[in-house]
Amino acid sequence: MSTNPKKRSSRARPGHRPGESVRVLISNARVKQRLRQLGEEIRRDFPTEPLHLIGVLKGSVFFLADLARELGGEVSFDFLSVSSYGSGTDSTGEVKLIKDLDVSIEGRTVIVVEDILDTGLTLKYLLRFFEEKKPKHLRVVVLLDKVERRIADVHADYTGFPIPNEFVVGYGLDYDERYRNLPDVCVLQFGSRAKSKSGYRA
Ligand code: IMP
Repeated sequence: MSTNPKKRSSRARPGHRPGESVRVLISNARVKQRLRQLGEEIRRDFPTEPLHLIGVLKGSVFFLADLARELGGEVSFDFLSVSSYGSGTDSTGEVKLIKDLDVSIEGRTVIVVEDILDTGLTLKYLLRFFEEKKPKHLRVVVLLDKVERRIADVHADYTGFPIPNEFVVGYGLDYDERYRNLPDVCVLQFGSRAKSKSGYRA
C-alpha cells in the first residue's frame, strides 16, 4: 500500500472521461452527518411504527442503505425501478415502471427514498402509484432537492440538502450509469467548464 499522501486511493479516483470533470459539492462526511439528523426526524414522527422503506433504483441505493442504519426500531425495505424517458442530463417527464414492488404496502408506514427531486414528475407518478395501494402513511425522503427546477406540485417530507440547478453525480447518482461509486455528491462539468474548476481532474 502506498504511503504517499499525494497519491489518491483508487476509491477517490472518479473514472471520468475526457471533457468531463467533477467537483465536490457535498462531502460524504456531510451526507453521513445529515443522515443522522434525518433518521432522528423520521423516528420523531414515527417513534414506534415499523417503517417500510421503498428505494427508487438505482440512485437511492447508498442513501437507503445508510439511512436505514440511522433508523432504530423495526425497518424493512423494498425497491422499485422506473425509467424517465430522455437521455443525458434531461428527462422528458414520461415515466415507465420497470420493476414493481415485491410485497404489498397496504396498511404499512411507507417512506419513499429518492435520490434527487428535480422537476418532480417522477415523484408525482410514484405518489399516485403508491397511494392507490393504500398504505397507512406515505412519506417521502429525498437526499437532494433542486428546488428551482420544480414543475410538478410535489414536495418531500424530509430533505437532505437543497442544491442549485447543477447536474450532480456520486453517492449513487449517475451520468450514463457512471460515477455512482463516488463517495461524495459532486457537480459534473463538461467541456471548457471542466478545465476552469478545481476538483477531481484527469
Ligand atoms: P424528476 O422527475 O425530474 O424529478 O427527476 C428525477 C430523476 O431524474 C432522479 O431520480 C434522477 O434519477 C434523475 N436526475 C435528476 N437530476 C439529476 C442530477 O442532477 N443527477 C443525476 N440524476 C438526476
